[in-house]
Amino acid sequence: MTCQRSLFVGLSFFFVLVIYIYVAGIVKPQQHYNLLPLSKPTNNYHHNEDLLNLSTTTFSSTPTLERIDNVKAKYLPSTIIPPTSWVKYVKQWQGLRLPVITCRPRGRLGNIMGEYATMYSLKRHYNVTVVMNNDFKKKLKNIFLNTSLPDIPASAGPFKLKDWTPVQYIGSWNNYAPIELAAAGLLGPKKFIMEEYPFEIQMFHQFKEELKKEFTFAPNYTTKANRFLSSVMKNRSSELLDPVFIGFHIRRTDYKKFIKDRYGSRLPETPYFTRALTHYRTKFPKAAVFIVASDDLQYARSKLHQYHDVFFSPGFSAGEDMALLASCNHSIITVGSFGFWTAYLAGGEVVYADVTTKTEYRFSRKMFEKVGLDNFIPLPVD
Ligand SMILES: *[C@@H]1O[C@H](CO)[C@@H](O)[C@H](O)[C@H]1NC(C)=O
Ligand SMILES: *[C@@H]1O[C@H](CO)[C@@H](O)[C@H](O)[C@H]1NC(C)=O
Ligand SMILES: *[C@@H]1O[C@H](CO)[C@@H](O)[C@H](O)[C@H]1NC(C)=O
Ligand SMILES: *[C@@H]1O[C@H](CO)[C@@H](O)[C@H](O)[C@H]1NC(C)=O
Ligand SMILES: *[C@@H]1O[C@H](CO)[C@@H](O)[C@H](O)[C@H]1NC(C)=O
Ligand SMILES: *[C@@H]1O[C@H](CO)[C@@H](O)[C@H](O)[C@H]1NC(C)=O
Repeated sequence: MTCQRSLFVGLSFFFVLVIYIYVAGIVKPQQHYNLLPLSKPTNNYHHNEDLLNLSTTTFSSTPTLERIDNVKAKYLPSTIIPPTSWVKYVKQWQGLRLPVITCRPRGRLGNIMGEYATMYSLKRHYNVTVVMNNDFKKKLKNIFLNTSLPDIPASAGPFKLKDWTPVQYIGSWNNYAPIELAAAGLLGPKKFIMEEYPFEIQMFHQFKEELKKEFTFAPNYTTKANRFLSSVMKNRSSELLDPVFIGFHIRRTDYKKFIKDRYGSRLPETPYFTRALTHYRTKFPKAAVFIVASDDLQYARSKLHQYHDVFFSPGFSAGEDMALLASCNHSIITVGSFGFWTAYLAGGEVVYADVTTKTEYRFSRKMFEKVGLDNFIPLPVD
C-alpha cells in the first residue's frame, strides 16, 4: 500500500513538473517552431514592407519566446524586421544558440564575398549565430586571412546538407527577406542554410569598415599587387605627374548570355569604356593610369591596347586580380559581383555602367542609389 501511494505521489509530482516546464516554456511544443511557412507563402509577400506588416501583426506576442525590445533600428531598408518582433530561443545546437545560419558557397569569388558579407551582417544586425561550413571556408582561405566568422564546431561531425533548412529569395531574385526572417527567429529555432546568391548590399553596407578588415588580403597578394603597380609607375614617361591608379574591371564571358537571358540587357562596350576613360583623364590630367583586369583579357586588350595610360593585369587568378584592383585609388566597373567588390574595397570614386534591365538588377543604378553608395557615379552605356 505504502509503496503504491508513494508511487502515486511521485507520479503526480512528475506530471505537475512536466506541465510546469511546458507552461514555463522551457520545453517548447514542436508546432510553435515553424512560425512562418518557408516554401508556400500564403500571404504572397514580395516586398519588404509586406514582411514588416506580417511580422509586426502576426507575432506581437509569442508566449514561449524571449524577446528583445530595446535595440534601435537605425538603417533602412536593411532593418526590415524591427527588433520588437525578433524572437530568441533558449534551445541550442552544439553549444550554439539557435537559430544557426550557414551558407552554401555559390558562384565564384565575387559572389562568395557577397554571401560572406551577407552572413556577417546577419550576425551583426540580428545577433544571430552564424557559422561557415568547410566548403565555404575553402573558397576564402589563403586569400583573406582575417575573416572572423567561426567554423561549424568539429563536434557536429561531417556536414550533411539535408540537416539544414534552406532559405533563399522569394518573389524577385533580389528579395532575400526570408534569410532575415530566419535570422530574426521568425522561422523557428532551426539550422538554416542560405541558398542561391544572397548579396545584401542594403544590409551589409552599414558594416563597410568592418568588412574591409574581414577582407584584408593575405600579404602575398598585397605584395604582388604593389610590385605590379611599382613597375607600372617606372614604365610611365617622366613628364607625367605622380600616378592616380584607376582599377578597371571588365566582365565578359558567361555574363553576356546571363545578363541577356535574365535581365534582357547587354554588356557595356566601347562607348562606355571611352566615356569612363575620359571621365578620369579629365579629372586627373597627366596622372590617371588605368589598370585593367577581365575574365576575358584578350577582349579587353583588343579594345584598349592603343592607349598609353592603360596597363593590363597579368591575371593569374581571381584573387590576384581582386587584390590588384582593390589597391587602386579609384575604379571603373561594368557589371557583376566581382567588379563590385574591386570598387567597394578600393574606396575612392567608382564609375559604373548605367545599364538598362527588364527586371530589377542588383548591380544597377536603382539599387546603388537606394543603398546610398555616394561614391558610385553612373555613366551611360550607349
Ligand atoms: C502595411 O500596413 C499599413 C497599415 O495597415 C498599410 O497602410 C500598408 O499598405 C501595408 N503595407 C503593405 C505593403 O501591405
Ligand atoms: C548576442 O547573443 C549572445 C549569445 O549568442 C548573447 O550572449 C549576447 O548578449 C547578445 N548580444 C546582444 C546585444 O543582445
Ligand atoms: C588581421 O589579423 C592579424 C592577426 O590575426 C592582425 O595582426 C591584423 O591587425 C589584422 N588586420 C586587420 C586589418 O584587421
Ligand atoms: C599566397 O599563399 C597561399 C598559401 O599560403 C597560396 O595558396 C596562394 O596561392 C598564394 N597567392 C599568391 C597570389 O601568391
Ligand atoms: C614595364 O616595362 C618592362 C620593360 O619593357 C616590361 O618588361 C614590363 O612588363 C613593363 N611593366 C608593365 C606593368 O607593363
Ligand atoms: C593610390 O594608390 C597607391 C597604390 O595602392 C597608393 O600607394 C597611394 O598612396 C594612393 N594614393 C592616394 C592619394 O590615396
